[in-house]
Amino acid sequence: MTSFSATDSLQKRGERVYSITTKVGCGIRRFEKTGRAQLEALIRHGLNPWDKLLDIGCGALCGGYWMIHFLNRGGYYGIEPNTLAFNAGVEHLIEPGLFEEKQPKFQHNDQYDLSGFDEKFDYFHAHSIWTHAPKKDIENMLDGFVEFTNPGARFLTSFKSPRPFRPDYKGDTWVGGSHESDKAGICRHSFKWIREACRARGLDVELLNGEKIHKQKWILIRN
Ligand SMILES: C[S@@+](CC[C@H](N)C(=O)[O-])C[C@H]1O[C@@H](n2cnc3c(N)ncnc32)[C@H](O)[C@@H]1O
Repeated sequence: MTSFSATDSLQKRGERVYSITTKVGCGIRRFEKTGRAQLEALIRHGLNPWDKLLDIGCGALCGGYWMIHFLNRGGYYGIEPNTLAFNAGVEHLIEPGLFEEKQPKFQHNDQYDLSGFDEKFDYFHAHSIWTHAPKKDIENMLDGFVEFTNPGARFLTSFKSPRPFRPDYKGDTWVGGSHESDKAGICRHSFKWIREACRARGLDVELLNGEKIHKQKWILIRN
């Protein structure tokens, strides 16, 4: 199988990633569309080319691909514990020379430990992470946002609200595919709980009405 072809669409490259692992995150049928949509939402909500952006759970770089292209050299940082999905994305999506030019940096721990980057960020992004993470992990990400950002930083993240028969998640483990699990699934967190968790840390939070990715809503958090 060829690793990379510059004449293939991102959709086709994404389908190659899926032939290695299905735990990719973006969804095979909308791989290209979902990745583009992440960058579009980031730009609509203030991302600048010169910003330093942390992509939490960057997976196979479905969205990261676009962010790396958009941001200046040294602007993109990703954290992803599933190295199989990550390496498949690097092999099949990334044009030769792109990493050398843009110098993205990555960590592969699953503790939301950002200290290894030795950096303060202007933007956090988490697509399809809060739809799998327990509340304690979300609190960890919010603590990281408080500790590792510059003044005026933003955090764009997607989530799903509880519904009848699909309650607010009270568990304390990841739900869905990851480096540790093959079982699909999602979890939901109420906006009320998210707002309280943000306010407890002195963070502003806004539900972005009308902004959606698949069936996930977006929220914007500011420090
Ligand atoms: C649904 S996928 C989304 C991937 C990517 N954001 C995208 O849009 O394609 C969720 C990702 O979170 C990763 N993940 C699981 N546990 C994590 C942790 N503790 N820290 C960071 N990422 C984690 C999974 O391995 C997976 O790649």
